Amino acid sequence: MDVIICSDEAEAGAYTAAKIAQIARRKGSDVVLGVATGSSPLRAYEALAQAAASGQLDLSQASAFALDEYVGLPPGHLESYHEVIRRTVTEPLGLDPARVHVPDGFAQDLAQATKDYEAAIAAAGGVDVQILGVGSNGHIGFNEPTSSLASRTRIKTLTEQTRLDNQRFFPSLAAVPRHCLTQGLGTIMEARHVVLVASGEHKAAAIQAVVEGPITAMCPGSVLQMHRQATIIVDEAAASRLALADYYRDMAANLPDWQRVVL
Ligand code: GLP
Repeated sequence: MDVIICSDEAEAGAYTAAKIAQIARRKGSDVVLGVATGSSPLRAYEALAQAAASGQLDLSQASAFALDEYVGLPPGHLESYHEVIRRTVTEPLGLDPARVHVPDGFAQDLAQATKDYEAAIAAAGGVDVQILGVGSNGHIGFNEPTSSLASRTRIKTLTEQTRLDNQRFFPSLAAVPRHCLTQGLGTIMEARHVVLVASGEHKAAAIQAVVEGPITAMCPGSVLQMHRQATIIVDEAAASRLALADYYRDMAANLPDWQRVVL
């Protein structure tokens, strides 16, 4: 696990985009991106959009798979992740909408939808780089605490904490869905690289638990300690509880050339 401590949210976003672009260039224009909703990756998406628009990054054949979707919203709802991904990823990055996939939280048969989603990821050859945020309770995707570390795409019940955190996108807590479809932790772990970005003091405890805590279903993001190519990119505030922060800074300052990311 590489931990990169950036000065602020803007630098964390730029570094995240540069890391993803590096992986995408090495893979080629048919790269398969794993994309997340939430505020955390927005700056990275903006930087990737600029790189794509200026021709520095070729995403013309790229595919994307979102992590999750609410269950219970009507199709077209502005806060459904279908719409959020369209606004924040598909359109700005200029991706082909036919190659952008979001779990079908509107399906009549949700169990079948989860199986179809796993099959679609496999048919695309798997995810080359998965972008992640982290919930304040350590969730990734919508894998809430006690999620099986081997879980696949499935239906989950959201915790009160996550519904409170996401209330800002809805008129009231009652309007926040209670259920979702989410890629499982086992699904996420199959991505060839994972890049998690977090900023702000409110993420410091979750980041400490993900990076330095025990591997436990009580902090689902801690499973990333078992991933062979995980990069955790944080700003100073989100890094503020890390015991080995000086070690991570030293490591980042002395990365070998092949691992170095140029901003
Ligand atoms: C939601 C999403 C996660 C995201 C998390 C954190 O629960 N399902 O993928 O990482 O929120 O969101 P934010 O980045 O806005 O803090």
